[in-house]
Amino acid sequence: MTDSGSSHKSSSLSKMANEDKNEYFFTASGYSPTKQEAYNLYLRKLHEHFVQIWNSNSAKVSSPEEFLKIKILGTGAFGIVYLVRKQDTGKYYAMKMLEKEKIFRLKQIEHSLYEKKILSGLNFPFVVYLKYFFKDNVYLYYVLPFIPGGEMFTHLRKMGKFEETTAQFYAAQVLLALEYLHACDLVYRDLKPENILIDPNGYIKLTDFGFCKILKGRTWTLCGTPEYLAPEIILSKGYGTSVDWWALGVLMYEMSAGFPPFYASDPMMIYEKIVHGKYKVPSHFSSELKHVLSHTLETDISKRYGNLKDGVLDFKNHKWFKSIDWEKLLINRVPAPIVPKVKSPCDTSNFDHYEDQKLKESDKCLFEDEFSDF
Ligand SMILES: Nc1ncnc2c1ncn2[C@@H]1O[C@H](COP(=O)(O)OP(=O)(O)O)[C@@H](O)[C@H]1O
Ligand SMILES: [Mg+2]
Repeated sequence: MTDSGSSHKSSSLSKMANEDKNEYFFTASGYSPTKQEAYNLYLRKLHEHFVQIWNSNSAKVSSPEEFLKIKILGTGAFGIVYLVRKQDTGKYYAMKMLEKEKIFRLKQIEHSLYEKKILSGLNFPFVVYLKYFFKDNVYLYYVLPFIPGGEMFTHLRKMGKFEETTAQFYAAQVLLALEYLHACDLVYRDLKPENILIDPNGYIKLTDFGFCKILKGRTWTLCGTPEYLAPEIILSKGYGTSVDWWALGVLMYEMSAGFPPFYASDPMMIYEKIVHGKYKVPSHFSSELKHVLSHTLETDISKRYGNLKDGVLDFKNHKWFKSIDWEKLLINRVPAPIVPKVKSPCDTSNFDHYEDQKLKESDKCLFEDEFSDF
């Protein structure tokens, strides 16, 4: 992407920054508004593509018999994810199975339909997408590319905490992924290390679109993971994409500290801490990290980074991200700090071990009407 005539614009940005921002924490020669405008055009194209697929409902249909289950990669509240091999091509995928009965009981029908439609339209370097989809008498199936490097969660727990440069590398990709989703009018709502996968190059892929939703105005649903919930969700205020920027703040903190900023054994106590917005900062945090966190873990959404008039530029030009080359990062040209060991296309050694589970069967199609739109 070219940056024609940026010098004038970028100096006006730095002037603005001087006026109402603490100058010390911003890089004047960073990502200019002109660059951002050009990038917004690219995002607009991706949004058009998303809407086109959304309206055409064009996920590739397949059937469960075509996939051989090899091993469980993960389990969550609603489903099981298997490593599978497609019989005809021999290619490996991750197959997420959701039990219709459970979805119905937990009133998640709409969310699971959204998950399918959203996954179908996604097209960005740092997010997964839908390869195939199908359903049978008991389950819904989403087939995704298999990301073999494991969850960021596993690497983070193994290492205790990440160096700040490592946290910056991941946070920058998460930021670009959120910026893309928001440009598609989507709010992600489930950012956490378990949902961030590492590909063989050491770059991230965001997975789990179970709570992702198209935003029409504001929304009110309480969903997500306690430690990552924004105060406006807990306080049942209508909310928008600002909740994802809050969660990015929680993630930046957790990656750098090894534990989340708001923590207690009882979720109610976590919520209390979150709405007060008070957290302790480990002494090893750099002043740049403390500064960016104080503007991201900001309970007042009218002051929270990502949500202000300069949008993502408040992050992209912040000194904590000064070593990030945003354009090179997008095309995987920055060396990754951690490259996972992946011995073969079906290597599951980066994932926890799960005992095999007995899958349910039924002679008749369960909840046929409820899931007829799928
Ligand atoms: N595309 C994928 N490649 C590899 N592992 C995956 C993939 N998608 C999900 N997983 C694994 O399965 C786990 C659960 O999947 P997820 O979509 O997060 O389900 P849930 O909504 O139940 O949390 C993930 O945390 C991850 O470990
Ligand atoms: Mg998940």
